[in-house]
Amino acid sequence: MNGMPFPNAPRVDARDKVRGKALFAADDARPDLVHAALAVATIGRGRVMALDRRAASVLPGVRLILTHEDFGGVKSAGFIMGGGYGFQSLQPMLSSGIAYRGQPIALVAADTLEAAIEGASLIHATYETEPFSVTLDAPGTETINQADTPLKNFFHEVVAGDADAAYAQAAVKIDAAFTSPAQHQNPIELIATVAQWSDGTLTIHEGTQNAEAIRQGLAAALALSPERVEVISPFAGGGFGQKNSLQMQTILAAVAAQRLGRPVKLVVPRAQLFHDASFRPVSRHRVRLGADREGRMVAAIHEVDAQTSRHDLFPAEYAAVSSRLHGFGNFRGHERLVRTDVQTPGYMRAPFEHAACFAMESSVDELAYRLGKDPVALRLANDTVVDPISKLPFSSRHLAECLQRGAEVFGWSRRTMAPQSMRADDGAFVGLGVAAGAYPGMMVPAVARLRVTNDGGVFINIGAHEMGQGVRTALAAAVARKLGVAPERVVAEIGQTGVTPQHLTAGSWGTASAIPAASEAADALLSALAELTASGSRGQTPAQILKAAGRHSLEVEIRSKAPGQPDAIYDRLAAGLPSIGGPVYPEFTTFSYIAHFVEVRVEPRTRRVRVPRVVSVVDCGRVMSPRTAASQVRGGVVWGIGATLREVSEVDPRYGGFLNADLAEYLVPVNADVDSIEVEFIDKPDFKFNSAGVKGLGEVSMVGVAAAIANAIYHATGRRLRDLPIRIEHLLD
Ligand code: MOS
Repeated sequence: MNGMPFPNAPRVDARDKVRGKALFAADDARPDLVHAALAVATIGRGRVMALDRRAASVLPGVRLILTHEDFGGVKSAGFIMGGGYGFQSLQPMLSSGIAYRGQPIALVAADTLEAAIEGASLIHATYETEPFSVTLDAPGTETINQADTPLKNFFHEVVAGDADAAYAQAAVKIDAAFTSPAQHQNPIELIATVAQWSDGTLTIHEGTQNAEAIRQGLAAALALSPERVEVISPFAGGGFGQKNSLQMQTILAAVAAQRLGRPVKLVVPRAQLFHDASFRPVSRHRVRLGADREGRMVAAIHEVDAQTSRHDLFPAEYAAVSSRLHGFGNFRGHERLVRTDVQTPGYMRAPFEHAACFAMESSVDELAYRLGKDPVALRLANDTVVDPISKLPFSSRHLAECLQRGAEVFGWSRRTMAPQSMRADDGAFVGLGVAAGAYPGMMVPAVARLRVTNDGGVFINIGAHEMGQGVRTALAAAVARKLGVAPERVVAEIGQTGVTPQHLTAGSWGTASAIPAASEAADALLSALAELTASGSRGQTPAQILKAAGRHSLEVEIRSKAPGQPDAIYDRLAAGLPSIGGPVYPEFTTFSYIAHFVEVRVEPRTRRVRVPRVVSVVDCGRVMSPRTAASQVRGGVVWGIGATLREVSEVDPRYGGFLNADLAEYLVPVNADVDSIEVEFIDKPDFKFNSAGVKGLGEVSMVGVAAAIANAIYHATGRRLRDLPIRIEHLLD
């Protein structure tokens, strides 16, 4: 692969998407379909004592009602971060126990969606209630040091040097506390399953980031051989971490379809998704920073309490990223988990990094003011080429260039340092803020099968899921360039079990894992084609070479994995288990970086905050697909605006569950909240990391936005706000 940038080609699936040809699971309208709906618990914790199904059962069209009494022999598929496959270990309806408000208690299947919904509403339960705790400080929660849990085997303490001693002696100190609320991913595509049995084989059509986990998890739950389960997910309409595993409703739909001998479709409505799929847990942070008078950061201590469920330990990895932002002389991270009565939280886009960098980069801004130093200059003066934690070199790190380029594009030099020192013509306070973000560079194993045919077909089969991020387009770009064909000729067969192993697509490792494998497969194919021609294949397309050699097609298969991963990782891949490498590799550490520059306007009377301009400069290694990459970053910045100024999943400790469980009351940014977002890429390949030079992009794009906005609000108003989301009432006198 040469060093030329990739062209700004359109999405390969754009035409299908705008014409409605890309079929999502909820679009499925096969004949004979039975529709299912769920009834859910209306208590915070306890037990179902009795379920009255009479009214539902006589409703016209209702065909099947399932409750916890109907799942004998079905097992939980386990928690994905606990050796299993599910978003949590608790599979609803396997017992009468209720662990959280909104947990399903019955499934009603009917000839029409309307009858199913009405039937579910007619299920009447009586309960025995128990006390429950849904906020971090409520009586009855349990707080545990992550280091004292089995998670310590996976998630190491993040420690370098003696941060406490260095902090004690530091000339200048910051000590601040931050909170980040519960939030929900809310992909536009609701989680939807169509389950169908045929000759003892179960086929699942579901938009997912993890087809293999659905397959293996269903096999485990239903005591089937994995060969008896096929999962098809050509498109997911947004994942953001919520679709990263076997969902609770997939098992329910599969059992209903088996009982009925007909295909069952179960689309989980938005309000239920707030309770029956993952979410971003509440976290609270204490950051202590110590510096010398010249502004060298000698100590950072980052302590976090993060919410988990009663039944699972959702790992906290906040310090893993805050520790890699700057060249901290000494660092100590400490993470504790707080058990509450909710469904198990999970990975929501930049799950730890967003909240961790909000806390750390707000603190760095505060330090800059304490030192009287420019916030960009302070960060540049604390840059590092060595990972402070592993002491290994970064495989690449261009954060300084991101900051410098961003400052130039944004016009940072016009900024006057003092809070409230800049005003717009209309009297609004103008605030200019900056923050950095980082995200671990991870890779997972992949098997790529590449086939060309003599009529010009190019087919790449690989583990990857298309959830709107554009992995098909990136694959097409990589393969097309190598083979010298048009990108639109490349067909990517992805998100389907039984073709090639499908690893979970998450953690921003999708492109960094699939593209090197696809590129290496293309190299292998070129070698195989060269062997077909004694001489003179130069300038010929693969189809021409095949024709000349009298061949119909040619196929190669290659495997690739993260640096340092053992060959046994391919067994884990095939078993549908997370097989994640990095960000620390044998010879280096890999992170992606970003710098965000934000302008806010705060209206003096109402204190309404607007974000008219964001400039984001990204170091994600090689950019495979400029159009989809820039789109990812703009989307990430919008997520950052939402996470900072809008989004919170509200909890009432008296009732449990989440109160604002719809898009009318869970506020996300609308077009009026989003103005100019300028995106630039450093676009320097990281060939130490992998053969394509690609690092991750999707999640780093939102990391640091919250701090940049909060820092801009401080610059505008002199108010240092440390609790998300930032609201007008926090800015009023
Ligand atoms: Mo991402 S939150 O790892 O799908």
